[in-house]
Amino acid sequence: MTTLTPVLTKTWDQPDSFTLAGYEREGGYRTLRRALDMEPDDLVQTVKDSGLRGRGGAGFPTGMKWGFLPPDSPNPRYLVVNADESEPGTCKDIPLMLANPHVLVEGVIISSYAIRSNHAFIYVRGEVLHVIRRLQAAVAEAYEAGYLGKDILGSGYDLELVVHTGAGAYICGEETALLDSLEGYRGQPRLKPPFPAVAGLYGGPTVINNVESIASVPAIVENGADWFTSMGTEKSAGFGIFSLSGHVTRPGQYEAPLGITLRELLDMAGGIRAGHRLKFWTPGGSSTPIFTDEHLDVPLDFESVGAAGSMLGTRALQIFDETVCVVRAVLRWSEFYAHESCGKCTPCREGTYWYKQMLKRLEAGQGSEEDLETLLDLSDNILGRSFCALGDGATSPVVSSIKLFRDEYVQHFERGGCPFDPARSTIWA
Ligand code: NAI
Ligand code: SF4
Repeated sequence: MTTLTPVLTKTWDQPDSFTLAGYEREGGYRTLRRALDMEPDDLVQTVKDSGLRGRGGAGFPTGMKWGFLPPDSPNPRYLVVNADESEPGTCKDIPLMLANPHVLVEGVIISSYAIRSNHAFIYVRGEVLHVIRRLQAAVAEAYEAGYLGKDILGSGYDLELVVHTGAGAYICGEETALLDSLEGYRGQPRLKPPFPAVAGLYGGPTVINNVESIASVPAIVENGADWFTSMGTEKSAGFGIFSLSGHVTRPGQYEAPLGITLRELLDMAGGIRAGHRLKFWTPGGSSTPIFTDEHLDVPLDFESVGAAGSMLGTRALQIFDETVCVVRAVLRWSEFYAHESCGKCTPCREGTYWYKQMLKRLEAGQGSEEDLETLLDLSDNILGRSFCALGDGATSPVVSSIKLFRDEYVQHFERGGCPFDPARSTIWA
């Protein structure tokens, strides 16, 4: 039986967990002192050896990304923390920054030192004012204590850290759109390559990492790469925060080794709400193909979830019981993607618009079998043909729900309305 591994979430229930005093009492900033005595390349090697993979969804190896920075660029290097968490269902970075902003700040300082950067940014969603205030207060405390600024702790190392707020566009979580936004432009994805590691912020070599990835660095440096690889699976090492939401008895954040299953997590969370049963769920947010109760024992690591036909993504486990209409859920997600599409490329801009129109008709019981084929054809024209991951992600709920719940779509147009909502269904009128 897998058990929880509280590292990042360990202090969340302490009333002063977000303050410098509370963080230092738990040993906070101790690792920074050690790290500043180490060679930057040794820190990069430790993170490489740990096997830490990006916690923002893509799972790209963090140490390898750091290793891509060109050694001879004349431009300054930057570290940018992607704190623009916006994926539907994804809700781990925001509570992490709220409860323990200093672990992120310490992670930023160690990571910036490791990649030889003197400028770091935390790009945070503009809507989460309470988190922004916590972060700004933590950064101010860290400057005051000599952990940021000039000659940090007498090491000769300088670092300026800026908290920058976005303006609420989902696309600004895409790393290159984030860079455009940070530079003051309208946030739209840039062509890759060059990857940000080579030419990123202001054209300089830039590492962009997710909040949870950077917040994991102090514990890895403190305890060593072997400690981290002793948890999780061979190719998906360590622990991660699993966010359970929806029809579950005790929703919340469960920090556990990668490879844990939904069945185990549900046991810890009190199961599906009383009197109901699991119908479908997302393993990693709405951009990942949905699963059903047949996938309860799929180990939640990058490889196993991929082999089962989905993606681990951000470990945003949205749980839906049998009372939920899958067509309506997919319509709701599709409305989100249509609203958030930045409009730069035709497959995504037009495709997500047509998803919305067709799903609305289907959900109202006015579609036909032909519409399902058109939706799948449309998906073929979005997937792999969009400029960034938003377009691809929009296809996931549509394609996977038609594959797993085709009968439920058919019921809608056969009955002339939603079988789950007599009030809105023409057949019940
Ligand atoms: P990606 O796979 O294109 O890139 C992942 C990272 O690796 C990037 O930082 C990229 O610059 C780097 N990289 C990849 N190949 C490289 C190379 N050859 N050289 C240097 N660097 C390289 O994935 P992307 O588009 O950055 O992220 C997509 C994921 O984001 C999705 O799978 C989804 O799960 C997640 N996502 C998360 C959201 C959230 O709120 N946390 C919102 C939406 C999506
Ligand atoms: Fe913009 Fe969508 Fe194209 Fe991405 S896929 S560039 S969000 S239109």
